[in-house]
Amino acid sequence: MFAVHLMAFYFSKLKEDQIKKVDRFLYHMRLSDDTLLDIMRRFQAEMEKGLAKDTNPTAAVKMLPTFVRAIPDGSEKGEFLSLDLGGSKFRVLKVQVAEEGKRRVQMESQFYPMPSEVIRGNGTELFEYVADCLADFMKTKDLKHKKLPLGLTFSFPCRQTKLEEGVLISWTKKFKARGVQDTDVVSRLTKAMRRHKYMDVDILALVNDTVGTMMTCAYDDPHCEVGVIIGTGTNACYMEDMSNIDLVEGDEGRMCINTEWGAFGDDGALEDIRTEFDRELDLGSLNPGKQLFEKMISGLYLGELVRLILLKMAKAGLLFGGEKSSALHTKGKIETRHVAAMEKYKEGLANTREILVDLGLEPSEADCVAVQHVCTIVSFRSANLCAAALAAILTRLQENKRVERLRTTVGVDGTLYKIHPQYPKRLHKVVRKLVPSCDVRFLLSESGSTKGAAMVTAVASRVQAQRKQIDKVLALFRLTREQLVDVQAKMRAELEYGLKKKSHALATVRMLPTYVCGLPDGTEKGKFLALDLGGTNFRVLLVKIRSGRRSVRMYNKIFAIPLGIMQGTGEELFDHIVQCIADFLDYMGLKGAPLPLGFTFSFPCRQMSIDKGALIGWTKGFKATDCEGEDVVDMLREAIKRRNEFDLDIVALVNDTVGTMMTCGYEDPNCEIGLIAGTGSNLCYMEDMRNIEVVEGDEGKMCINTEWGGFGDNGCVEDIRTQYDMEVDEGSLNPGKQRYEKMTSGMYLGEIVRQILIDLTKQGLLFRGQISERLRTRGIFETKFLSQIESDRLALLQVRRILQELGLDSTCEDSIVVKEVCGAVSRRAAQLCGAGLAAVVEKRREDQGLERLKITVGVDGTLYKLHPHFSRILQETVKELAPRCDVTFMLSEDGSGKGAALITAVAKRIQQARKEN
Ligand code: BG6
Ligand code: BG6
Ligand code: GLC
Ligand code: GLC
Repeated sequence: MFAVHLMAFYFSKLKEDQIKKVDRFLYHMRLSDDTLLDIMRRFQAEMEKGLAKDTNPTAAVKMLPTFVRAIPDGSEKGEFLSLDLGGSKFRVLKVQVAEEGKRRVQMESQFYPMPSEVIRGNGTELFEYVADCLADFMKTKDLKHKKLPLGLTFSFPCRQTKLEEGVLISWTKKFKARGVQDTDVVSRLTKAMRRHKYMDVDILALVNDTVGTMMTCAYDDPHCEVGVIIGTGTNACYMEDMSNIDLVEGDEGRMCINTEWGAFGDDGALEDIRTEFDRELDLGSLNPGKQLFEKMISGLYLGELVRLILLKMAKAGLLFGGEKSSALHTKGKIETRHVAAMEKYKEGLANTREILVDLGLEPSEADCVAVQHVCTIVSFRSANLCAAALAAILTRLQENKRVERLRTTVGVDGTLYKIHPQYPKRLHKVVRKLVPSCDVRFLLSESGSTKGAAMVTAVASRVQAQRKQIDKVLALFRLTREQLVDVQAKMRAELEYGLKKKSHALATVRMLPTYVCGLPDGTEKGKFLALDLGGTNFRVLLVKIRSGRRSVRMYNKIFAIPLGIMQGTGEELFDHIVQCIADFLDYMGLKGAPLPLGFTFSFPCRQMSIDKGALIGWTKGFKATDCEGEDVVDMLREAIKRRNEFDLDIVALVNDTVGTMMTCGYEDPNCEIGLIAGTGSNLCYMEDMRNIEVVEGDEGKMCINTEWGGFGDNGCVEDIRTQYDMEVDEGSLNPGKQRYEKMTSGMYLGEIVRQILIDLTKQGLLFRGQISERLRTRGIFETKFLSQIESDRLALLQVRRILQELGLDSTCEDSIVVKEVCGAVSRRAAQLCGAGLAAVVEKRREDQGLERLKITVGVDGTLYKLHPHFSRILQETVKELAPRCDVTFMLSEDGSGKGAALITAVAKRIQQARKEN
């Protein structure tokens, strides 16, 4: 008994002495809690530095955006190939995610060797080797010719601008293949794969192993938002708020950041804690001066650190009686697996002896105890450092979420963590001590990072498929040159048809005579009232024209026309108009003066004379009853009579296109066309009387209001109408009518966009598949919103804000799609409008037998004025389709009221002359 006690006493004394000796020797490797807290704070600062745009270029910790935006939600599915390159083993896998609706992942895998001549040889050969292994795998698994998406786990720092791309910043760990740095590894591998003819593989995602690990664990535990590798190398990733990531546009949601914490200290930030052993190890490594934090922590280096320490201690006579073996002198002779074995709880000491003997040493009992303690200090330091950096990440997550307690899961992988008997326990304990306000669960990634990589690939392949669906929809709006030429030809035919006596009554492009026969000549003068009804705004104006000087003064007031009145009874509408006139006259102090009035009425009217016109049918947003077929001038006169307050002399009824042409014609006598691209779409132009069969006389010209909005109402352009156009038409006030207008004007473009968005949402491609009440609301996309969304000056975030103002809760991806949809719809509108205009100018050129036609088009309308691209595309199209016409576009700054007043002035003069005769 006594002997046993004595032995125990002797042994614990020996142990104590040895431990003290080693502790003294490795004093610098033992990090106090305060030091760890300090390191944690330093790492927090490093993360900030890496995330901010201006400090990122010089930051040691690169904080790389990964373009992985969400953790798996269980909806991922499909069959994928996967490569896992960069850890201690190289693997090729086939992953089947979610079979028959079950949340299950099946994997078949094959390890392949990674010979050192390959990883340190020529880069092209490295990728060819990888491709060869993949080819072999596909052959053995009978996957030849199968089209499969591939997820590549590539465990090195890569700069990504999208998921399927990664430029290698530098090799780390054991790799050093030539000519790969600064190149995109995805295209390198893709190129290598092309050598195998039957390989039809698309690399959809490149992920770091930390990311793969996080995703693997997140598939089982949705709280997992951090991934850590403690293996050959060490690194971590976590989900960061987009608003904190300067390098990527957008601010909603989160994105996974690959910290590349292995490089922490590369700028000197950890010099105070690095020891002579760390420096010596670094000098002998493949990448001196790089990955300094990693070299204090990870599996590739721990054994070597122990060896360097033992060698130094032996040299100092502190171990093995001062004896050294040649093995102890040899780099790499002690590996991490040895360190782990020596630290085993029970067999540790026996293992230590065996290992040392294998190294050609003759260790005493005391030596074994000391060596074991060296291992403990080295691996403890590793776990401590990892814990400090991880604690910094957890603190950041907690701050981002602004919570008192953070509940989170950390996914972990790597051989050191997995095979070292004490490592996980120590790491967990220190992390919990450093961030007591976090409840952390550590989850070991059992199936490596490929399962997670497959999740990312699944999402990427869904995105790719969705992209195809979106492109399919947008393609419907892309018109070929042939299609545009066809539209031009058809429009031309319709113009002729409408001018002919026998077909005029049936024509869908109505070609209405306006009884406006000349442009203003500058002799017009007087004071006139004008009404401007039918565009976005209803205005009453007073226009004073001074003769000779071609100058006009205008006073105007905008009045609202409530929806109830636009779509009420005719009497109500005209009473309201007269009420507005009364208000205006009051406001101008003009009551009692019987002024001549020009009435801009922007709807199709069959005119018998300049002051008579029967409304053919309402268009756009108007639908007042008892007006169609009636003379609107009479209706206005009746309403004035009903009110019995003032008298007005209604001299001219004018379409807005005609008013616009006149407004511009006052300045440019070459202006013989008026175009409106606004709420509605229409055009008028000066036609030779001899071509206008429905009006007597062959001399001179008359302005024809084409009412081209009705183009296509006979079905002649059905081939380019889409289901969305049909839907917009069906939901409109005048189904089947104004088909061309419904593809080209402001009132409808937004509606087309809305229909497309609804469809894309139904297909699950937008707004998370949720059709909101807002989106169901007709008319939410007014022209001005469309114009704003499409502005080139607008960043994505602003687009998103506009959508939010409209009540559409969208992500940044949604905003991109919405912008594209708007672009496709407005582009088609501008092209179609251009094709129509090309038809008109070409007709004018040919009718006059001219080689070249020079003509000015007066234009008005909010779409033309506000939209950032409409006018340009329209002009380009005209140039393309009517190359022999030099068309000048002149924007009508003063609206059509001025033109209406000029027409009234001319009409008044003629009226007077007639009276005098
Ligand atoms: C594996 C993962 O389980 O762990 C790899 O699948 C990862 O992607 C590796 O690189 C890290 O550990 P080690 O020890 O192999 O470097
Ligand atoms: C205005 C004209 O400037 O433009 C109106 O004065 C015309 O007569 C209108 O109807 C057309 O544009 P919108 O976009 O208001 O329909
Ligand atoms: C190295 C690599 C890093 C990887 C880590 C773990 O640090 O640079 O990308 O995640 O090793 O394998
Ligand atoms: C509608 C009207 C037309 C008008 C155009 C522009 O197409 O029918 O008369 O010119 O809108 O406002």
